[in-house]
Amino acid sequence: MEKQATVRLDFFKQFLKNPTKIGAITPSSSELAKAMVQDIKIGPGETILELGPGTGAFTRHIQQILPDKRAYVGIELEPKFVQHLQARFPELCFIAGRAENANELYQRSGFDPAKAIISGIPFAVLNEKTRRGILQTLQRLMPPGCIFRTFQYVHAYRLPPAVKFRRQMDEIFGNHHRSRVVFRNLPPAFVLTWKR
Ligand SMILES: C[S@@+](CC[C@H](N)C(=O)[O-])C[C@H]1O[C@@H](n2cnc3c(N)ncnc32)[C@H](O)[C@@H]1O
Repeated sequence: MEKQATVRLDFFKQFLKNPTKIGAITPSSSELAKAMVQDIKIGPGETILELGPGTGAFTRHIQQILPDKRAYVGIELEPKFVQHLQARFPELCFIAGRAENANELYQRSGFDPAKAIISGIPFAVLNEKTRRGILQTLQRLMPPGCIFRTFQYVHAYRLPPAVKFRRQMDEIFGNHHRSRVVFRNLPPAFVLTWKR
């Protein structure tokens, strides 16, 4: 319990240092994490890529659906979080870097093609250049059949930056699927899925 409180405090400190990159005051709940991995099946020769794992709220649940620990790679911008992730999940691979460069980082590391990309990056509050950079990278990273999944908070769902992100994604990947509201998260959120 004490450990969880420390993780939350560290997360909050990072939020205060860089609110637009962290985008949340506390890690996501287990309920949101379960909704983020729901119905994802990773077979042999497939990989799951996580962009912006933070302190590992989703990673813990992703780990449970992996056929093999080598089927996961996480790319995280904040070096402190990368250190934390490496200590918490010593068998998984984490790369310190930017999601915009995920294609190069991914190819260099020799991973199998991505079956699913899961991301908690706060797309709606990113600057336009970074968001476009990540969208271009997704286009290169996602083979046919690959899914991309993220979440948006209910209270901000209708705000222009959130609508714009969904529109940009729909233009590239087609219409998204929106989950029911995950109420047991602070704040409540929708899970959004696009499929190539
Ligand atoms: C809202 S936190 C989500 C963390 C975790 N998935 C969760 O839901 O609790 C967003 C994470 O994305 C990371 N991030 C933001 N921009 C990024 C980028 N361009 N590339 C990689 N990670 C990024 C932040 O450092 C932070 O750890």
